[in-house]
Amino acid sequence: EANCNVAMEAKLPKENGLNGHTGIMFNDITPLLLRPGVFKDAVDIFVERYRGMGIAAVAGIEARGFIFGPAIALAIGAKFIPLRKPKKLPGEVISETYVLEYGTDCLQMHVGAIEPGERVLIVDDLVATGGTLCAAIRLLERAGADVAECACLIGLPKFKDFYKLNGKPVYVLVESR
Ligand code: PRP
Repeated sequence: EANCNVAMEAKLPKENGLNGHTGIMFNDITPLLLRPGVFKDAVDIFVERYRGMGIAAVAGIEARGFIFGPAIALAIGAKFIPLRKPKKLPGEVISETYVLEYGTDCLQMHVGAIEPGERVLIVDDLVATGGTLCAAIRLLERAGADVAECACLIGLPKFKDFYKLNGKPVYVLVESR
């Protein structure tokens, strides 16, 4: 059920001017969150996939990786690491800058959040160009993490050929446009 419903309900056009980014399709996962059964189905699919894989940490990407990441982390007995946009974390951070469809951005993580060698799952709502996931992978690997996989609810197939995820697999529940 989750597979179908996520796909249909996620396709909401981003209105011109929303967030100042005209012409970019915005795949909105918030309708899914209003349906607890579908929300749970989506989380459960990830939990079934990653339980028992020795995942020590789930790293969620701000902002919507914070919606799904903690639920998955709790269910598989892993810690949760927020990868935040600049100047949000209070402690010492390491940073990784990346290129988006519109400009550049940066992810930061607290120093000490991950122990060298720990196996990590990276979670976000959507992969488009893969630039954000790639930055997250680089950030975690610089801290010594063993990145097992990236998991997203939605993948945009038009960008598939452009994924540059440092050789790491990305698992998506549904493909959108
Ligand atoms: C969206 C989405 C992913 C990223 C995917 O976030 O939630 O994090 O874009 O794009 P990519 O694969 O081309 O890198 P956005 O950058 O809009 O930031 P936000 O979560 O702060 O809105």
